[in-house]
Amino acid sequence: MIRAIRGMKDILPPETSRWQWVEQKARETFEVYGYREIRLPLLERTELFARSIGADTDIVAKEMYTFTDRSGDSLSLRPEATAQVVRACLENGLLHGAGVKKFYLIGPMFRYERPQKGRYRQFHQINCEALGSDAPELDAEVILMLLDLLARLGLRQVRLMVNSLGCPQCTGDFKSRLQIFLGRQEGWCDDCRRRREVNPLRVLDCKSQHCQALLAGAPVMEDSLCDSCARHYERVLGLVAAAGVSYEKNPRLVRGLDYYTRTTFEVTAPGLGAQDAVAGGGRYNGLARELGGPDLPGLGFAVGEDRLLEVLPPEAGPPERPLTFLAVLGEAAAARAFFLMQDLRARGLSAVMDFEGRSLKAQMSLADRLGAAYVIILGDEELTSGRAVLRRMATGEQEAVPLGELASAVAARIEDKEGN
Ligand code: HAM
Repeated sequence: MIRAIRGMKDILPPETSRWQWVEQKARETFEVYGYREIRLPLLERTELFARSIGADTDIVAKEMYTFTDRSGDSLSLRPEATAQVVRACLENGLLHGAGVKKFYLIGPMFRYERPQKGRYRQFHQINCEALGSDAPELDAEVILMLLDLLARLGLRQVRLMVNSLGCPQCTGDFKSRLQIFLGRQEGWCDDCRRRREVNPLRVLDCKSQHCQALLAGAPVMEDSLCDSCARHYERVLGLVAAAGVSYEKNPRLVRGLDYYTRTTFEVTAPGLGAQDAVAGGGRYNGLARELGGPDLPGLGFAVGEDRLLEVLPPEAGPPERPLTFLAVLGEAAAARAFFLMQDLRARGLSAVMDFEGRSLKAQMSLADRLGAAYVIILGDEELTSGRAVLRRMATGEQEAVPLGELASAVAARIEDKEGN
């Protein structure tokens, strides 16, 4: 048997209904905040990711699915969406004119990481990007929108961590101080020995526990913030706090992508084990320029949808859609039921029947197995009398309903039960 690729999973019913529900809630939430959907290709030129995420990051150096296509171009499956959203905005002229441009994108991303609980090679992100403003109000709004979405989904026990990486001047100062610290210590892993020379910030998100232990006492970014960045950071924190949201400052939160400037944030949830970040994001004020566009600030976040679904409470999900099963006896009844079933569906009700000519008993047990809420029983006798039997499966109650009124009778009963 040919099996799925390691780290890539099939998402199956009934779980798919929960995915649809999560995405529907995300769409509703984002539209309220003025975001519009953008859909982009899964493949991009490798250079796009190398230039934006950074050639020394784990994502670009080790985790991309990269190949050369038939015309010799190096392409990669997208490992994240921010770079391509900015690319698409620049290419399609979406950033002209006043006002903040807001987009959301839902879809699969690909990273060749070691698979474990909450970490996959194909995973799914719900991504938001806002471009065109450096106002701290926008940072606060984006963070609050993320928490708003998580709350609407029933995920309340979350931890919000925030940091500021400052502007390139602050980062330059911080990197020098960090480099001095890193140079004084020995015992770094091979990657970090290289990183401390070329990109010291990346040492801070090394996954080795040994390196993490060595980092105790390392300088913190906040001490390197210039006045303007410090004020920006304070204003973001002030607005978040004023909205009644609690947060923790995490000076180590540099996130694994090079494009971040100023605010960075992450939301973690209990129950995920080592991979506990359900969402992460931040500002990327230099990204549009790096990709050949204007000097346009922006920020955003991505929710890891797979992880989110793993921590949502069991009751989170769409309301059940009650099913009606049409059980028939005889050819004439089957022919009538076929069109009755279409009437039910035309009212938006879920209805199925058996086409295999099974016995009534077999049809009833099939209805049971499918979890039908109602069964309509229709045979020659019912056709003659013009009334079918409508049975409520939970209680076994039965009533005779005129054939012409069946669809409305089922609709009324379902509405009644749902309303209760
Ligand atoms: P990221 O932190 O790399 O940020 O990913 C965001 C979220 O995607 C993570 O918090 C996690 O929930 C999920 N995720 C990442 N890798 C995996 C994986 N291998 N398996 C399962 N879930 C995973 C970004 O991607 C940025 N583009 C976010 C952003 C948007 N920043 C600004 N705008």
